Amino acid sequence: MVYNDRLIRALRQQEVDELPVWYMRQAGRYDPDYRKIKEKYSLLEICRQPELAAEVTMMPVRKLGVDAAILYSDIMNPVASLGIKFDIVKNVGPVIEQPIRTEADVERLQPIDVEKDLSHILQTISILDRELEVPLITFAGAPFTIASYLIEGRPSKSYIHTKAMMYGQPKLWFKLMDKLGDMVITYLQAHVLHGGKALQLFDSWVGALAPRDFETYVLPTITRIFAELRHLDVPKIYFPGVSSGELLPTLTGLEVEAIGLDWRVSITEGRRRLGHNFAVQGNLDPYLLTAPMDVIKEQAARIIDEGVLKPGYVFNLGHGLFPEASLEKLRELTEFVHEYSRKALMRHNAPAQQG
Ligand code: CP3
Repeated sequence: MVYNDRLIRALRQQEVDELPVWYMRQAGRYDPDYRKIKEKYSLLEICRQPELAAEVTMMPVRKLGVDAAILYSDIMNPVASLGIKFDIVKNVGPVIEQPIRTEADVERLQPIDVEKDLSHILQTISILDRELEVPLITFAGAPFTIASYLIEGRPSKSYIHTKAMMYGQPKLWFKLMDKLGDMVITYLQAHVLHGGKALQLFDSWVGALAPRDFETYVLPTITRIFAELRHLDVPKIYFPGVSSGELLPTLTGLEVEAIGLDWRVSITEGRRRLGHNFAVQGNLDPYLLTAPMDVIKEQAARIIDEGVLKPGYVFNLGHGLFPEASLEKLRELTEFVHEYSRKALMRHNAPAQQG
């Protein structure tokens, strides 16, 4: 089989024959075979077995026919190397043994040592680099989103302790942002060195901030991360997470190829707010997958019709897949995106009829 580079081409705003499609959280509990593996091993146990982690990464590529793999891991994995003890608790999410709240807590965080503490992840990437016929996306959690878990100690709806530190102890906040920024840079560099072909920074919860506060307390670190990763010759995606529509106009200066959109803004409106500076990725409401297939296809077609208006569009969901999604519907949706977009691209690229 020839290597499928549609994702890379679309992220670089080059022409494609069909739109590339992949799904955030495409390895997961909607797949009965994944659930079987999870009966034996936890997420962290899978991540510590490179052969198994690589296999779990490849399962959705084979089953769904998507145009990219995303490394099976979690945004929390690198924080182990900062010296933080945590677990991923079933149906809850990341839980931290001792939340980070004080200056001493932040001081204690050590620089990460990827080769020493996270070599299993690098090994998984190397295996995938040999095996895959589609690009491997590797990823990190962005500083605000990681900080929200470290400070709250568990998933939160209000981010009350996170915002208390951000607004009340800005010096401490920026020290934490610096340390997490360094972590992300070191970690993602190692990924690319070992075979990652594109990278995504997940800032899932930063939509909780007003644009002005995002610009003051978070954007400087995001800007530094991508400036320091500039020399890596792989396309980079920033995903500002759910409810991020109001933040889009603040992102126009980022040194990335693409921005991920949630489902609250259309592709056209997202492009407009971003000053047409980037490729865009998204943005089907993941919960639309509960609807009958004809409803799903109708909405996907509307998104694709906007996507093909310019080079630089990647089909995805507006947020991660949920456990109740159906494998059959995802397979059918993937096929539909490929077939429908092939025709839509031909229509769009055909020279206007004469006479
Ligand atoms: O996308 C993929 O298929 C690759 C794997 C991946 C996981 N987590 C594995 C995982 C990726 C890209 C992530 C990123 C991640 N982790 C994010 C950013 C993406 C997003 O959804 O916004 C966040 C916020 C986390 C933190 C986290 N980890 C949460 C909130 C949960 C859910 C808890 C639950 O049980 O529902 C996790 C656990 C987790 N990470 C699961 C998976 C497949 C589900 C539990 C499991 O199967 O063990």
